[in-house]
Amino acid sequence: MLELKNVSKKYKNNEVLNNINLAINNGEIVSLLGPSGCGKTTLLNMILGLTEVSAGEIIYNNEVIQNKPMHKRDFNIVFQDYCLFPHLNAYENIIYGLKNLKKNPYDKKVTDLIELLELRPHLYKKIHELSGGQKQRVSIARTIAMEPKILLMDEPLSALDGVIKESIKDMIQKIAKTLNLTTIIVTHDPEEALTMADKVVVIENGKVAQFGTPDNIINEPKNKFVEQFILNQLKVKRNHIYQLFGASYGA
Ligand SMILES: Nc1ncnc2c1ncn2[C@@H]1O[C@H](COP(=O)(O)OP(=O)(O)O)[C@@H](O)[C@H]1O
Ligand SMILES: [Mg+2]
Repeated sequence: MLELKNVSKKYKNNEVLNNINLAINNGEIVSLLGPSGCGKTTLLNMILGLTEVSAGEIIYNNEVIQNKPMHKRDFNIVFQDYCLFPHLNAYENIIYGLKNLKKNPYDKKVTDLIELLELRPHLYKKIHELSGGQKQRVSIARTIAMEPKILLMDEPLSALDGVIKESIKDMIQKIAKTLNLTTIIVTHDPEEALTMADKVVVIENGKVAQFGTPDNIINEPKNKFVEQFILNQLKVKRNHIYQLFGASYGA
């Protein structure tokens, strides 16, 4: 279990996150949802170990980890802009990190991942020869090949559209559930959060406005902010989503 206890973050005098409390069970998909600038990336980077916490504790499987360096936490992230190596092909990108970890790049786990992400036809392409969706799948494969204990993703779908977005969303869900991988996904899009995650953390201006299942959030929004944020963002999509969860208001 990953626990955040009264975690706060200040940049100089600017308090970006204030007393965040969360408990995420192993194998859960959790989405951090909120408007731009509310602190989602900062929170994700503190869990990863890239950004220091100003106060509070991060605990993973009963071990206090907020002072542990990033590489010793064994979590891994898919960055928003993919961060692939342009001089290597897709396959070389996927197995890049495995040598350092003394893991076998020909392991069945890696080939299974390539199949799951439907990357076999693209393995020997250079990065500039890949579409956005293909780049994103390579980036996901590279990250999961390292077998992180927690998979972190920062806006993994934001640069994609339509059918591609749906298919990558399904792949992420399928892999996370097949591997029983704890997955934390940052997004500003309620539809993504509510349809992908087991639980959603709605963040309002550096604070947790609500932490619950998609059903909870839709049917029992805790305050006006949660209700309005979801409604405003969903706009035309809302009727469909509301039908999906059986909610009656807002239609
Ligand atoms: N390294 C930094 N130094 C100072 N302020 C920062 C830094 N990173 C983020 N911030 C500020 O923290 C707030 C939250 O940013 P961020 O976590 O990136 O939000 P989100 O990912 O939800 O859009 C913003 O006001 C941003 O300007
Ligand atoms: Mg962000």
